[in-house]
Amino acid sequence: MPGLTLRLVAADRLRDVLKGASFSPLSPMELPDGRDRAVANRIITTALRYHGPISRLISELLARGVPKKSGRFETMLHLSLAQLLFLPELGEHSALFLAGEAMRADQKTQHLIKLMNGVLREAQRRRDSVVVSAETLFPDHLLTPWRTAYGDEAIAAFGRALLEGAPLDLTLKGPVEGLDASPVLADSVRISDRDRSVDQLPGYADGSFWVQDAAAAIPARLMTLGPGARVLDLCAAPGGKTAQLIKAGYAVTALDRDPARMERLSANLARLNYSAELVTADALDYAPTEPFDGVLLDAPCSATGTFRRHPEVVWHRDPSDIAGRVALQRRMIGRAAKSLKSGGVLIYCVCSLEAEEGEEQAEWALTQGLETLPITAAELDGWAQPVTEPGFLRTHPGQMVPGDKGGTLDGFFVARFRRR
Ligand SMILES: C[S@@+](CC[C@H](N)C(=O)[O-])C[C@H]1O[C@@H](n2cnc3c(N)ncnc32)[C@H](O)[C@@H]1O
Repeated sequence: MPGLTLRLVAADRLRDVLKGASFSPLSPMELPDGRDRAVANRIITTALRYHGPISRLISELLARGVPKKSGRFETMLHLSLAQLLFLPELGEHSALFLAGEAMRADQKTQHLIKLMNGVLREAQRRRDSVVVSAETLFPDHLLTPWRTAYGDEAIAAFGRALLEGAPLDLTLKGPVEGLDASPVLADSVRISDRDRSVDQLPGYADGSFWVQDAAAAIPARLMTLGPGARVLDLCAAPGGKTAQLIKAGYAVTALDRDPARMERLSANLARLNYSAELVTADALDYAPTEPFDGVLLDAPCSATGTFRRHPEVVWHRDPSDIAGRVALQRRMIGRAAKSLKSGGVLIYCVCSLEAEEGEEQAEWALTQGLETLPITAAELDGWAQPVTEPGFLRTHPGQMVPGDKGGTLDGFFVARFRRR
């Protein structure tokens, strides 16, 4: 039946993501037909972006909660509501009909056809009362500190950015002919042609660029050492920042503890025709024989600043989770400082919007034999907005990028230090 398989596959992927997996689009192996795949990915990402309002609506409509042991009932309900309320161009009738058919396709859910239908029809009737705003799009435990840190206007923009998603940004190795792109900052460009996949863009096969959000490309640029300096990239995979450090002319050691991610890093560098010393190890155990001139620590974090491309992150994180990462980041900062020569430069960055992982960590780092090397607007082509008073850098998805393309960027915190 047209449209049914893609919804069953989409429901299974959504189930994994709602259980804690990070979202990655369905692959040709999972859904061979390109159009089906595009529709399935669109419905899943819409369900994730609107997860807050959809979950609220479900709890209002199912007073007794989701029936136990009900197979795909819950995830099909999320997907069908996403289509019905937020993707009307895909057809309301097909959302209703295929939700019923998905229940019919499994013995465990055949008795739920009527419930599914009733809930969806009631949702149609209530559609005008569904509130879509920052207050419903983000959980309170994130929203409250964000409001204090960034203000109401930025928070409203966060909501819009979550629903819009992220543009495609590239970092260029050199000039590329025929790429329809606008400059953002330094060698970051924003792609206008979103109909082609990345590997079909001119210059992909010969390694003329790599995919990297314009904000994610800032930290490595702030490593301002002389050519040939030895730089350690302490949490390197999949290697976007490693590639930048190599491009800048440093002798780079790239370390990550995850072997599969290190393989991706190695393949990415090979495509770019770049090389580095690769080390698969835990950063906390790594003791270099000789200290480095520079260390880039792109620490594991809550990644809340990436919600435009990973809308699920805001539902996966809870306060205890963030506290655990803060402790790990501190140990890593300590390790990074010990791997530096006296006078060496440490760049600490996280793609998190949480002050505990950013601004507060940078203040703590100052007690570890490090002093701030202030970041200046001149290093960002004159863009002053993200530079904060102590000389740190904070981007968030409520800011617009400089340059003529406009649009938002990931949330990043960056601090630069010198080891005393
Ligand atoms: C934010 S990602 C790095 C992204 C990368 N710098 C880039 O620009 O492409 C964080 C990385 O830290 C790695 N990581 C987490 N804990 C680690 C540890 N204890 N030692 C080394 N790497 C670790 C993860 O495997 C992950 O690849």
